[in-house]
Amino acid sequence: KIENSLRPKLLKDYIGQEKAKNNLKVYIEAAKQRKEALDHVLFYGPPGLGKTTLAGIIANEMDVNLKVTSGPAIEKPGEMAAILNNLQEGDLLFVDEIHRLNRQVEEVLYPAMEDYAIDIIIGKGASARSIRLDLPKFTLVGATTRAGMLTAPLRDRFGVVHRLEFYTVEELKTIIMRSAGVFKVEMDEEGALEMAKRSRGTPRLANRLLKRVRDFAQVKYDGRITKEVANFALDLLEVDKLGLDHIDREILYTMMDKFAGGPVGLDTIAASIGEDSGTIEDVYEPYLIQNGLIVRTPRGRMVTDLCYKHFGIEQKQK
Ligand code: ADE
Repeated sequence: KIENSLRPKLLKDYIGQEKAKNNLKVYIEAAKQRKEALDHVLFYGPPGLGKTTLAGIIANEMDVNLKVTSGPAIEKPGEMAAILNNLQEGDLLFVDEIHRLNRQVEEVLYPAMEDYAIDIIIGKGASARSIRLDLPKFTLVGATTRAGMLTAPLRDRFGVVHRLEFYTVEELKTIIMRSAGVFKVEMDEEGALEMAKRSRGTPRLANRLLKRVRDFAQVKYDGRITKEVANFALDLLEVDKLGLDHIDREILYTMMDKFAGGPVGLDTIAASIGEDSGTIEDVYEPYLIQNGLIVRTPRGRMVTDLCYKHFGIEQKQK
């Protein structure tokens, strides 16, 4: 399937995240040599940077089954126990949004991760007792946008922890060229570069932009993606030269217009634009900070001179 093959299957085809990639390569090779399950792995960082893709690659490289679930999908301890109990030796269990597991469900994971066992309570009241059930040796791969929201006992049980970073324009360009090859769409390098620059350092967005630009190339042009086509389509999509979208601009304009550039608290910004503060913190803010458009201060967020310059706005005197 086309959609699937946008995700690389092997570490060698995965572009970027060199640090995570090089370390994982060693851990995978070592575990395979010892014929053991890989240690538990935690990936954290903004959405769309390849956490799920890496989990798939690890399963593939280790030649084990991949089971996928997510924090909010598991409501009861018994459900987690059943998932764990159904794993086969060596399997990889991927838990997306792992920070959203509730406490009782999370507690099932502690002995599972540490001793490959679960404790089951049998009976009620005074006659209740706990029996320990052995599990196959497995690898838990957790993904979260907010490592800070994991409890210490859970975080400490991951042997490997990697923060995924935003991709460089050059890396995104390579990813876009690879994806264009998968789609069999004609594209020149300048077209790829234009999309790469506007992808917010994020492969998921790069691939999404490519699909939309491909539509415009097909219907409004001759099918070939050039810089001109990319610019035309991206302007219509309201993605600006830095890759900022409608919500990014709302955040920044609110800070500049209503709060004189800040400092202003995250919750105040969130209320002002009707967006969830957690979403702003996890999804929007990291890229804005990375690109020097806003800074975090002890008294709240502030826009920078660069931000005023990007929008061509005069800074109000305070
Ligand atoms: N497609 C999405 N992310 C990718 C990556 N990091 N490398 C190669 N292809 C990708």
